[in-house]
Amino acid sequence: MKLKEWKMNNKIINFIKKKNKSKIISLTAYSKNIASIIDRHCDLVLVGDSLGSVLYSFSSTKKVTLDMMIEHSKSVRMGVKKSLMVVDMPHNTYRNPKEALSNAKKIISKTKCDAIKLEGGKRVVQIIKTLIKNKIPVMGHLGVLPQSATSFKFRGKEITERKIILRDSKLLEEAGVFSIVLECIESSLAKEITKKINIPTIGIGASAYCDGQVLVTDDLIGLSKIKARFVKRYSNIEKQINDAVLKFKKDVVTSKFPAKKHSYKN
Ligand code: KIV
Repeated sequence: MKLKEWKMNNKIINFIKKKNKSKIISLTAYSKNIASIIDRHCDLVLVGDSLGSVLYSFSSTKKVTLDMMIEHSKSVRMGVKKSLMVVDMPHNTYRNPKEALSNAKKIISKTKCDAIKLEGGKRVVQIIKTLIKNKIPVMGHLGVLPQSATSFKFRGKEITERKIILRDSKLLEEAGVFSIVLECIESSLAKEITKKINIPTIGIGASAYCDGQVLVTDDLIGLSKIKARFVKRYSNIEKQINDAVLKFKKDVVTSKFPAKKHSYKN
């Protein structure tokens, strides 16, 4: 095995070993500056296709392209030094094993990320197996699947749906994913999945029973306008930026800025 491959696998193995030992901390990043801050405190940095709605105001993540994911990921890569860096495969880039493999290879080679994430259960098992056979580490995603969802209501209310999600989590584990994101899943179902599989579950709106948690960083710092039950806002960066811009404006208008120390003189 090449050194590069060994290094990558070792990182993933250490990530999996966190299950039942310590809670796993994950956040999204779409660019270098934010990535370098969250990398200090996270186990996993996700370049989520949520960037479509957060940065580009798309009505869904369906419009996010492979090129958008690659360009943002290149920037994030510069800021991530120690965490596992995972990149979302966008909608319509993994419709069959061949397409998935070609696009996943492109993402890995251009962004140097550690792994990719894709959405779905039984439907994507063959795709996942093909990627893993080709040494591409894969993270799964169950529950609300924004790339195909028509409703964003939490999943696992009905017994049939619960059985499907539980079955899918086992299928994904058997296919070889190293971890699964559980998005908006009823608490006791998230608990059951977390207990029944041997890889870490990372929840977003899926209770504290998961092995770790992920949030969209813009939601956590108060830069987005989202009002979802599962979001906790830890800061109001929007206000801080607004206040700084106002101060700058005032200084320029009153000629306080630039001062002599900000100017050049022969
Ligand atoms: O796209 C994203 O940011 C995600 C997280 C919400 C898990 O998939």
